[in-house]
Amino acid sequence: MKEKEKIMKEQLEKIYSDASADIEKAVNTKDLEDIKNKYLSRKGEFNEIKKGLKDLSIEDKKVVGALANEITQKLESAIADKFKLFYEKELNEKLQKERLDVTMPGQFIPKGHTHLLTSTTEEICSIFRSLGFSVVEDEFAPEVETEYYNFDMLNVPKDHPARDVQDTFFTNVAPNVVLRSQTSGAQIHAMEAKKPPIRIIAPGRVYRNENINSRKNNFFHQIEGLYVDKGITFGDLKGVLNEFIRIYFGESRPTRFRNSFFPFTEPSAEVDVQCIMCQGKGCRTCSGTGWLEILGAGMVDPNVLRGVDIDPDVYSGFAFGVGVERLAMLKYAVDDIRLFFNNDVRFTAQFK
Ligand code: DAH
Repeated sequence: MKEKEKIMKEQLEKIYSDASADIEKAVNTKDLEDIKNKYLSRKGEFNEIKKGLKDLSIEDKKVVGALANEITQKLESAIADKFKLFYEKELNEKLQKERLDVTMPGQFIPKGHTHLLTSTTEEICSIFRSLGFSVVEDEFAPEVETEYYNFDMLNVPKDHPARDVQDTFFTNVAPNVVLRSQTSGAQIHAMEAKKPPIRIIAPGRVYRNENINSRKNNFFHQIEGLYVDKGITFGDLKGVLNEFIRIYFGESRPTRFRNSFFPFTEPSAEVDVQCIMCQGKGCRTCSGTGWLEILGAGMVDPNVLRGVDIDPDVYSGFAFGVGVERLAMLKYAVDDIRLFFNNDVRFTAQFK
C-alpha cells in the first residue's frame, strides 16, 4: 500500500506543479477560468486522482487526503489572488473603453415648426380676438357643405355662375353636397346657433375648381368674420378692419375701401392696401395699380338676416372674408401661392 500512496503523492505534486506553471503563465481572467476548469472542477484532473483515495488504508487516506486538500487550497488561493488583479485591470480597461463623454456635443436633430399658413392664421385670429371676436371652428364651419349653407342662405341666386361645376367642386355624396367654396357659410351656422350679439371669426380651408397658377390654387384658406348686434354701422366695419390691418402689417398702411358686390352683403366693399412691393408706384405684382386687394366685406344683407330669423329692423351687422395666403404673401413677399403647398423645406424653413 505504501507504493500506491507514493504514486498518488507524486501525481498530486505533478498536478500542483503543472497547475502552478499554468497559473504563472496566465495573462487574463479567462486563462484563470480555464485553469480552474482543467484542474479543480468536478471533472478536473484533481478530482480524478481524489477518486483513488478510496482504495487507500485509513491512515494513508488521512495523509494523502490532507495533502490533496492542502494543494487544492493553495491552487485556489493562487488563482483567486491573480484573478483579483486581472479582474481589476480588465474592469478599468473596459470602463475606459466604454467611457461616456457627457460634454461632447450632441447629435443635431432638426426640429419642426409651424407652417407659415398656420402661424398667419393664428396671428390673424389673435388680432381679432383682441378686438373682441371669438373663434369658431368645426361644427360652425364644416369643409363639406350643402348648397343650402354655401349659397342659398347667403342669398346667392340659383343661376349664379359660382354654383357652376366649373367653379365649385360637387361631391358624389348627394347632388347638393359641395366642398365649400367660401367660409361665408359659417355666418349662417353661427346665426342659427346663437342670438345677437354675435361676434365671431371662422378660419378654414375652401375649395375652388381653378386652373392652378402662381396666384390661384384649387384650395386655399379664408377667415370669415361676422358681427351682428343692434346699431352696427359701416363705420364699425371700417374701424375694425382698419385696426386689423394696422396691427397685422405693424404700421398704418394706406388702405382704401372700394365699392363692390356680394350677394350676402349690401353695401359691399373690397379692401385694398398699398402694394408693399412698389409702395404704390405700380409694379407687376399689383398690375401697375399700386393697390392689392386683401378682403371682401359689407353690411349683412337684410335677406340673410331674415333667413335666420333675425329681424333686420332691430339688428344689423357686418361681415368680411380675408384670404390667408394673400395676407401672408403680402407680408412676407411670397410671389407664388404654390409655395405654400409643395412642402419644400427651403421655403418653409424660412418662417420659423
Ligand atoms: N366669401 C367671399 C369670397 O370668397 C368673401 C367675402 C366677401 C366674405 C364679403 C364676406 C363678405 O363675409 O362680407 O370671395
